[in-house]
Amino acid sequence: MKKLRTGIVGLGRLGRIHAANIAYKIPNMTLVAACSLVPEELEYAKAELGVTEVYSDYRQMLAEADIEAVVIITPSGEHCWQIAAALDAGKHVFCEKPLGVDVEQCKIAEAAVERHPDLTFMLGFMRRYDKSYAYAKQKIDAGEIGTPYLVKATGVDPEVLVQNAIRISAGSGGIFLDMAIHDIDLMRWFLGCEATEVYAMGATFKHPEFKQSDDDETAVAAYKFENGAMGIVHVGRTAPYGYHVETEIVGTEGSIRISAVPEKNLAQLYNTNGVCTECVQGFPERFADAYLAEMEEFANCALEGRQPGVSVYDGSRSTLIGYATTEAWKTGKIVKIG
Ligand SMILES: NC(=O)c1ccc[n+]([C@@H]2O[C@H](COP(=O)([O-])OP(=O)(O)OC[C@H]3O[C@@H](n4cnc5c(N)ncnc54)[C@H](O)[C@@H]3O)[C@@H](O)[C@H]2O)c1
Repeated sequence: MKKLRTGIVGLGRLGRIHAANIAYKIPNMTLVAACSLVPEELEYAKAELGVTEVYSDYRQMLAEADIEAVVIITPSGEHCWQIAAALDAGKHVFCEKPLGVDVEQCKIAEAAVERHPDLTFMLGFMRRYDKSYAYAKQKIDAGEIGTPYLVKATGVDPEVLVQNAIRISAGSGGIFLDMAIHDIDLMRWFLGCEATEVYAMGATFKHPEFKQSDDDETAVAAYKFENGAMGIVHVGRTAPYGYHVETEIVGTEGSIRISAVPEKNLAQLYNTNGVCTECVQGFPERFADAYLAEMEEFANCALEGRQPGVSVYDGSRSTLIGYATTEAWKTGKIVKIG
């Protein structure tokens, strides 16, 4: 079997998940090289993942490693230049979301993708590869709920992780750019058209530290789409019971709910609290299969010379909408999305 020779840059929280998938779970990929600024992470890659070529300099990895593809899992502000450098070095590229942290950066990535139509580029909107979200999209496309006219999305992180959210708050771009990008992408995907205006607001009740970095603990945005459809996104950082990701798509002939109860599994616990279903505890647990499925699709696309369903333009459009949402939240005004 032909294996896609791959190098990864970024071995932090999410990089390790992707690296282990590539090294051990995807038969047509092989993890040849790894790059990180953290020496312990490179030791881990050698010892635990069997990586033979490790680098602390990304450009050196591109120039020297024997790889056909690069997987970019670095902080969001590094994505666009790293995408352009890898494509210009002749490598297929998978990059984590968001595409970039501002629209100008996204243009750099768009131009690089356009310079290299022969190379595969994929952005990590992994929820599109989650079985339940993919099923919902199939049903919508088959007309089973008529014309979809409303998406309601909830994404609230578990309160046990709130100190980390407070720590990164100042540099995160604010709650919408940090948390709502997947929901923004899904609304566009499910409704099949573009958002034209947004109104947003935020609130902080439990952790005033968010206010010190001009951020909020929870927030809501309402969108209007070009065909008249609507979207509502609720994001937050303090779900006491776990990781609450839920999406509902309402159409003229029915609706679809994904994770109406964000269950850990199908087991129910009967005890003095009553009958309980435990909640899923975080994104690595909830979307473990989706991270694997999206990387399998990337490998298949690169080896078969095709492009995946998620394009660079999905990345730049969602960043643009994320910015408009942030402006609406900060100004209290309805913002037109250009
Ligand atoms: N799809 C999702 O659900 C999801 C979830 C979490 C994070 N993310 C995204 O994944 C990306 C990484 O997030 P994380 O939490 O794993 O970050 P992290 O801070 O835990 O890890 C960052 C890694 O990047 C490396 N790095 C940073 N700058 C570098 C450079 N210039 N050259 C080489 N290596 C460099 C660091 O050494 C480290 O290994 C972010 O863009 C984030 O938005 C996506």
